Amino acid sequence: MPAVPSKKLYIKTYGCQMNVYDSARMADVLAPLGYASTEDAAEADFVILNTCHIREKASEKVYSELGRLRRLKDKGAAEGRRVIFGVAGCVAQAEGAEMVRRAPMVDLVFGPQTYHRLPELVARLDGGARGLVDTDFPADSKFDRLPEESAPDGANRGPAAFLSVQEGCDKFCSFCVVPYTRGAEFSRPVADIVAEAQRMAAGGTREITLLGQNVNAYHGAAPDGATWGLGRLLRRLAEIEGLARLRYTTSHPRDMDAELIAAHRDEPKLMPYLHLPVQAGSDRVLQAMNRKHTAEDYRRLVGALRDARPDLALSGDFIVGFPGERERDFADTLRLVTDVGYAQAYSFKYSPRPGTPAAGVAEQVPEEAKSERLAALQQLLGEQQLAFNRAKVGSRMSVLLDRRGKRAGQLLGRSPWMQSVPVAAPARLLGTLAEVEIVEAHANSLIGRVVTTGDEGHTGDLSESDTEAA
Ligand code: 5AD
Ligand code: SF4
Repeated sequence: MPAVPSKKLYIKTYGCQMNVYDSARMADVLAPLGYASTEDAAEADFVILNTCHIREKASEKVYSELGRLRRLKDKGAAEGRRVIFGVAGCVAQAEGAEMVRRAPMVDLVFGPQTYHRLPELVARLDGGARGLVDTDFPADSKFDRLPEESAPDGANRGPAAFLSVQEGCDKFCSFCVVPYTRGAEFSRPVADIVAEAQRMAAGGTREITLLGQNVNAYHGAAPDGATWGLGRLLRRLAEIEGLARLRYTTSHPRDMDAELIAAHRDEPKLMPYLHLPVQAGSDRVLQAMNRKHTAEDYRRLVGALRDARPDLALSGDFIVGFPGERERDFADTLRLVTDVGYAQAYSFKYSPRPGTPAAGVAEQVPEEAKSERLAALQQLLGEQQLAFNRAKVGSRMSVLLDRRGKRAGQLLGRSPWMQSVPVAAPARLLGTLAEVEIVEAHANSLIGRVVTTGDEGHTGDLSESDTEAA
């Protein structure tokens, strides 16, 4: 018998898609304890901030947010209600006990690896405990302990959803906190992933994005006794009926093996879009970043991927102003961007993260140079993005209509290349794949018109066109 929801849970999620997935799983863990999710923090009995440590001053921002939310705790107390405050995710992992010391209003601090223990932690809080901290990297994986998605409609995660397959990172890029906050690489077993994907497909999910900090390092135990890489896993997931599209993010160039490249050639459900961060284009800088690849390795890899899948579009991450980066190193980055051609990218000024090797390097780049380089890089990337989008005008593509639009009668969809595509369409097409003609391109979206081939609105017909168009 599921408990009748009597309490309200509010989770605010920061940062990456991994956190979005984790927040959904936290809600699943707490549902049997009677917590129903709410979008309104003011009515919550349990407030969780699921934090991200990747951006600058991440911890400070969490402390300010806690300051702002304090009034909810006071308001609850005035009404005779205890409002529990929890901080989760990578800032929680990094701050640990310091968090409850600096913000005594926080009842619970727990890391990305321990939220399967929430029931036990909440029971202790209900018993009167305060200031609990659980930031272990436990030997028992959370994935083994988590319940299946909360029934009856817990598997209904929407038309496009995430599935976490791998966590942690052993790469230790010298600027990055992830290996410290998320711990060592861990891959979920194949059977668990397939079962979760089957439940998602049965609940109406058409597109799954496999998640991992370093997802293409995936090496999971398979039912055949072997260890499967990501390419093999993708091929298995592609067999699931109802699933039309697969993606994965984020990848390290070093872990792009032949089998995964072959999956891009052979598997039409695998979308022609890949987030493959290179960070910089200078070998000197790449070496100082401990990236374990050269710019030429990356160029060759992109060439092999495009041989396998000629319409593959690339996305990336870049850091400018890494310690020791000179003008000519930065020029190498611009050249690499020009050669590769990105459909979309994220770019950042380097900023030191306490505890990472690069933070202690003396040769930091002046702020002004960082700003200039970032502006130049973003100009180039912006031009590439617009050119990529414009090249789609006049073409037809399959679009997964996965959200309602801002206006009535409008749905928002995703192209195979991750472009956002608003179209005029009736609500009954939500969750289906439609053949769309692109009529206009902007920097961040394509405007489309649903092409009414065959039986309009017959979702089966529309969806079958997807694999061909992709
Ligand atoms: N400074 C700037 N950018 C960083 N990133 C990670 N750490 C830092 C840092 N210290 C960027 C990288 C990574 C993305 C998620 O965030 O480009 O790929
Ligand atoms: Fe961080 Fe990615 Fe490097 Fe791992 S591979 S250390 S997650 S930047």
